[in-house]
Amino acid sequence: MTEPKQFLLDGEPIPFQPGQTIMDAALAAGVYIPHLCHNPELAPHGSCRVCVVRANGREVSACTAPAAAKLEVESETEPVRALRVAILQMLFVEGNHVCPACERSGACQLQAVAYYCGMLEPRFTHFFPRRELDASHPDLVLDRNRCILCELCVRASRDLDGKRVFAVSGRGIDSQLIVDAPTGRLGDSQLAVTDRAAHVCPVGAILPRHRADDANDRRGYRVPIGERLYDREPISRVGDVALHDRSPGSRWGGCAESTGQDAGTGDLSAAKSAPQHRLERHSIGKTKLERRLEPKLERQPDPKREPRLEQTPTPEQDAAASSTSVQEGS
Ligand code: SF4
Ligand code: FES
Repeated sequence: MTEPKQFLLDGEPIPFQPGQTIMDAALAAGVYIPHLCHNPELAPHGSCRVCVVRANGREVSACTAPAAAKLEVESETEPVRALRVAILQMLFVEGNHVCPACERSGACQLQAVAYYCGMLEPRFTHFFPRRELDASHPDLVLDRNRCILCELCVRASRDLDGKRVFAVSGRGIDSQLIVDAPTGRLGDSQLAVTDRAAHVCPVGAILPRHRADDANDRRGYRVPIGERLYDREPISRVGDVALHDRSPGSRWGGCAESTGQDAGTGDLSAAKSAPQHRLERHSIGKTKLERRLEPKLERQPDPKREPRLEQTPTPEQDAAASSTSVQEGS
């Protein structure tokens, strides 16, 4: 009998099939590796580098590196986490990401992965690039300020919709998402709100204006910030926004309540039985809601720093004090 093929991920054996990448095998085993440009339905792209892991001492992107027996892969170690945080910090300064004012806040993978990895502050100088916003489409908005050039929309339009609406033009810092239309505007392209390309964006760069099944419902912020997908559960549990945008009952922009699907298998029961080490091992994996519900630590008053409040005297104390002062004065 042949031995099942497996490699070690943070010391745990992960089985794999020939042809699978480290990411494929990890997700199939219910183990989350942070990622942005990866979508299991599309060919790997390897552009965001957020899925960086250390395999036999060498940094590789988990979504493109083939799984192999005898690999020892580190994903949740301090050095790898520090690398990921640096990559995320670069992504945040390259575009204009204003999370508190973003319509996708709470359902944005970039934001959710940053929370998961413990990115708490900016580190590099912001570029503040000037990028175009395209609101010419009746059902969708394209805001290039938030685009991380993951090319998920490019691949989805080409490989799933058969349209080739999007492409990336330019090089380096001048790279930008372009639209295949005589005017270059989204409204003059073939993109339909029902296209897969309209629902794979991991950030708020492609935003449906309303639900595809209800042309009269044009309410933004339909699900309030604080109750959205990643406000309720960490990304390691609920997976990519694209997964939720397609699910029945999902509202636009992946801002629906969690569908209860697991990142790897699409089945929460499997996620429960799988090692939830990413959540239990790291307090940073807690959701905002979980952190809010944590019991507040009893604050012990520091007599040096906190002067005692003057207590209001009782009427009896008042009377005793005034009789004492009368006696002293007599
Ligand atoms: S618009 Fe969204 S899906 Fe398309 S490249 Fe930019 S970030 Fe990726
Ligand atoms: S998810 Fe692997 S490089 Fe983007």
